[in-house]
Amino acid sequence: MHPHQILNPIADLPRIPLARKNTPLEEMPRLRAAIAQSMDADISDVPPLFIKRDDTTGFAFGGNKAQHMEFLFAHLLERGIDTIININHYDSNNARLAAAASAKTGMKYHWIAFDELDAPIQGNMLIAHLAGAHIHRTPKSETRNLAENLLTQETNLGNNPTILLDNPFSNIAGTIAYLETANEIDNQLTNYDTPASSGGSVTRTSPFDGERGRERAQRRTTTDRRGMRVGPRGKVDSFHDHEVATISNNPTATTTSPLAPSAESGQAAPPSPSRSARGRERVQRSTTTDRRGCPEGMGDGPIHFWGLCGRSIAGIILYARNTGKPWTATAVAQPHYTPENYEQIYLDRSDRVANLLNLDTPLKPNDIKTLTGYTKTYGVPTDLGIQAMHLLAQTESIILDPTYTAKSMSALIAEIQKGNLDPKTPTIFIHSGGTPQTFAFANQIWNS
Ligand SMILES: Cc1ncc(COP(=O)(O)O)c(C=O)c1O
Repeated sequence: MHPHQILNPIADLPRIPLARKNTPLEEMPRLRAAIAQSMDADISDVPPLFIKRDDTTGFAFGGNKAQHMEFLFAHLLERGIDTIININHYDSNNARLAAAASAKTGMKYHWIAFDELDAPIQGNMLIAHLAGAHIHRTPKSETRNLAENLLTQETNLGNNPTILLDNPFSNIAGTIAYLETANEIDNQLTNYDTPASSGGSVTRTSPFDGERGRERAQRRTTTDRRGMRVGPRGKVDSFHDHEVATISNNPTATTTSPLAPSAESGQAAPPSPSRSARGRERVQRSTTTDRRGCPEGMGDGPIHFWGLCGRSIAGIILYARNTGKPWTATAVAQPHYTPENYEQIYLDRSDRVANLLNLDTPLKPNDIKTLTGYTKTYGVPTDLGIQAMHLLAQTESIILDPTYTAKSMSALIAEIQKGNLDPKTPTIFIHSGGTPQTFAFANQIWNS
């Protein structure tokens, strides 16, 4: 299928614009170098690493659910819903962004927040409170009763409430949204260029770039009179200019891996914090230009996606199957998923999305590899996850959240270290957001 055959039926769906689109696709050369160093391996033994910055969708601190809510809230409004009842864990990003979407659309919003009843009012809960949420902190066993009571109360008040969990569209809105995100990534890969250089010792080279890419990059350094970058055809370039700068003058100061030998045995080969002369040399090389083992096929080659079990990653692979892209994916499972039940869930949802949008190909078994064992208890940070947070912040200045993306990133690093990823296939990590919850875990992070 041509991408337009996917995008056009989506454009016909009701939607409320909430999220900032075309979030950056950034390279993570310093993370790649740090992982190579931790393995005492060559940089070419680690896949080129990219990150899709959907933590920067903007709306109420962003995240993937800003896109999901665009379709979900339009769908609810169209059905005359005016009151939302949401049942979510204390850590829930869905709860935060549903609160924000409710405020934006003038709906009343109840969040029944279970578990962690004494945890600080921070992160998601604080933002939901600011957005006017009625927050009910309740043991998990009482959530359903409370939701039913609120449903009756709100109906008696003359409102038209819904329990979000019970709405079948809430399970597919995110997959629909991520068909669009996949198209964004597709375009970003096709147009991936070296961002304009301001000189100095800063290297900004994409492993996807061949000669053509480098030439294009040079053309792109022109700016218009307003100081905006102008693309090859004289149009203002729409590709976000969030550059990944690798400073090569003092690589040793900042590329030491803070990943300590793993306390969680069986998950990660322990990266060595000490640095040999060879290691230093390697890091230095990696901060200049590295193109070894990287495909020149730009957007047409294989790409491996890395994210969490859920609606978003299913949308990306559904797009790939329908446009013929040789993309693969690993989804890291929260404890409530097994490979079998996640497969059942994504097969069912992708069927429904394919029917709704008239797509040729729903997902098939084994389209998404599910990885268990890395998330441990939901809502409880892991040591490896916190180490991954430090590493990302110290190599790429990217902040992960302790509940979702840190655990997913810790799994990616550990699987690379175990040699389970093809080093020739670029890997795109989906940063699906959740960062406000970092502050709710300040003590654990500080003490780690
Ligand atoms: C930050 C974050 N990433 C990933 C997920 C995974 O699920 P989905 O793709 O359905 O959002 C969640 C789910 O709540 C989430 O909050």
